[in-house]
Amino acid sequence: MDDQLTAVQWYDGKVRILDQTQLPEDLVLLEISDYHGIVKAIKELSVRGAPAIGVAAAYGVVLATWYLDEVDRAGFLEATNRAILELKNTRPTAKNLFWSLERMRTALTKNLSKPLKDVKLALLKEAKRIQQDDLERCQNIGRYGAELLPNRVNVLTHCNAGALATAGYGTALGMVRAAAEMGKKVHVYADETRPLLQGARLTTFELMEDGIDVTLLCDNMAGYLMQRGVIDVVIVGADRITMNGDVANKIGTYSVAVLANAHKIPFYVAAPFSTFDPDLKTGQDIPIEKRDGDEVRKIGSQWIAPEKVSVINPAFDVTPNHLISAIVTEHGVITPPYVEGIKAKFSVD
Ligand code: MRU
Repeated sequence: MDDQLTAVQWYDGKVRILDQTQLPEDLVLLEISDYHGIVKAIKELSVRGAPAIGVAAAYGVVLATWYLDEVDRAGFLEATNRAILELKNTRPTAKNLFWSLERMRTALTKNLSKPLKDVKLALLKEAKRIQQDDLERCQNIGRYGAELLPNRVNVLTHCNAGALATAGYGTALGMVRAAAEMGKKVHVYADETRPLLQGARLTTFELMEDGIDVTLLCDNMAGYLMQRGVIDVVIVGADRITMNGDVANKIGTYSVAVLANAHKIPFYVAAPFSTFDPDLKTGQDIPIEKRDGDEVRKIGSQWIAPEKVSVINPAFDVTPNHLISAIVTEHGVITPPYVEGIKAKFSVD
């Protein structure tokens, strides 16, 4: 995808965020010079997708220090810690957010004895490294994952785990891109992904930009396609993966995994190690974000239900490891049994 479609960019003391709430209709770049703007952009999903949130948060930490002038070391530290805490409290599920903020905190601690202008530069360097690192991880995921796909393949995906959700290239869509680059004939079926339609608005948009065949379906049509033998594999991204291989991803992923299992269709998860949580044993421990009910009562600004109707709106669900055929990472493909496989690859990260 072209540069303008990069989710997050550092530009001359500001962070440019491509406002994903406006896509595909309008291409709006938010120019943010205050970390509160990053907090807002993450909460409101202007930037979304686990790795992209991590990158945005890292630059949020940079912004929190960048314009601090007359401040002593204690004041600098206090301002940075406050920003890290607020950024941590934006969304609870994606591990990449916490992973990235931890890296920023380590960079801060390591450089704190330097002149403050050098600490700022060290933080900027680390944020840029996090971004570049994610891009490379996604490219490697693509490379390993593409090998799993046959030469002609129909892929079902859910939500958006593409360039827009990462530093670029994507995880699930990284596999698709790499397969297409290898000359494989890939056709993607994109679940619309209610309530916020990341599949309809973003996955279709970015694949069409790259000239990759894509067909949009409503979430409740996946079973129909699988029953008729149209889908060869399912590939999704992840927001958090526990040490036993359970996977939190966009709400609806679990239903797709159950359907894939019933139809004996391989179900692949593509994610970098920044998404794995070494502190959690099983998916039951993953905090699931609950979002505003109006996201369900409305589509965009259009009410589709009575204003006062009771709704539930969990943003993610957990797919248990037994429904997952393989997890594709930047260090290679992990197959069951996951506890051993994840531990072995974690040691090389
Ligand atoms: O609520 P979102 O849009 O941030 O949810 C995004 C997803 O669920 C993605 O599938 C996941 O973050 C993987 S992105 C490579």
